[in-house]
Amino acid sequence: MTASTPLLQRDVVVDRVLAATRAVLGDAIQPIALHEPEFRGREWDYVKECIDTGWVSSVGSFVDRFERDLCAYTGAAHAVATSNGTAALHICLLLAGVRAGDEVLMPALTFIATANAVSYVSAVPHFVDSETVSLGVDPVKLDARLRDTARVIDGVCINQRTGAPIRALVVMHVFGHPADLAALDEVARRWRLVLIEDAAESLGSTYRGRHTGNVGRLAALSFNGNKVVTTGGGGAVLTNDAALGRRAKHLTTTARTPHRWSFLHDEVGYNYRLPNLNAALGCAQLEQLPSFVERKRRLAERYREAFASIGGVRFVVEPPGTASNYWLNAIVLEGDHVGRRDALLAALNDAGYMARPLWTLMHRLPMYTDCPRDDLAVAEQLEARLVNVPSSAKLAG
Ligand SMILES: Cc1ncc(COP(=O)(O)O)c(C=O)c1O
Repeated sequence: MTASTPLLQRDVVVDRVLAATRAVLGDAIQPIALHEPEFRGREWDYVKECIDTGWVSSVGSFVDRFERDLCAYTGAAHAVATSNGTAALHICLLLAGVRAGDEVLMPALTFIATANAVSYVSAVPHFVDSETVSLGVDPVKLDARLRDTARVIDGVCINQRTGAPIRALVVMHVFGHPADLAALDEVARRWRLVLIEDAAESLGSTYRGRHTGNVGRLAALSFNGNKVVTTGGGGAVLTNDAALGRRAKHLTTTARTPHRWSFLHDEVGYNYRLPNLNAALGCAQLEQLPSFVERKRRLAERYREAFASIGGVRFVVEPPGTASNYWLNAIVLEGDHVGRRDALLAALNDAGYMARPLWTLMHRLPMYTDCPRDDLAVAEQLEARLVNVPSSAKLAG
């Protein structure tokens, strides 16, 4: 081996990933987006109906129908549509009883909205590590962290170092791959934490046959333009608890109490209701969800086969016992190829395949650097090595 061999090997990996991506997607005559919405169903009809009838805003039949359809699809007993997924997370935290000064356990490896929602209730994110299979919170390491730092006193988990109650655990299903919910639920119960699922990316994904969002006491969905199903902008709170469902509806609709004409509000509420126009789009999109998921899974299978023969490149697959919607396909560089992430990102983007790194981990962002955190070695390794590749359903035909 000469001194230059490792460098050559590393460049070969970039070429091989590029060739595999081209084999799956074809030549990028036009740039290929990371994730594009698809409107091939009854979107025009339903949106037109809103305009024709004048029901475009926060009251209208499509909102109720969208909520019913979400329940039917996910199996959740209650769904409350919101203006976006971040608002849904905010409501989940309020309903979980998180108060100012509390700590909320959450992964450092997530999109910023998860941490911001914790800040909206004046609580403090407490960052924990992820595991390499699901990319979600590592339940074993989480339990060890709690044994090291926390005690349950009078039914409340208390951080012995900061003195703050640790009220909730928010887990996130990264790129649609369900986190290890059974183990995480067990940890949450042992430590008296309310389990909240940030299921923004996992509509269409199941864990041991149950749709994600059904294990936690509360869950948040997102219907942003880049998600599996879009309403333009939108989200939803899911819960199986009737009282929480009622409260979610109340809080998201300015806490207005029913009356024929008076404006009566019994607490500080939020204008988080999803407009009927957006819900109309969502109803049409939900009709196509099985097809979106089926094609996204087919695309993932093609990537899996194409990347299988490239040593040191791991294609992220659904964890055992789960079915992922493969919202975003991802590869992780391993072995000699660690350190080639940016070269790979440059090569893929230059060739017209939109590729992106992981989000910057939360504890690196200026507003969250001083938050309590566990060792985040796995999240940090993933951050340095992971690349997302184009994942729209239409790429599978
Ligand atoms: C993990 C995660 N949480 C929350 C959100 C927030 O959703 P929204 O953009 O609808 O506010 C998103 C996506 O945008 C997300 O990916």
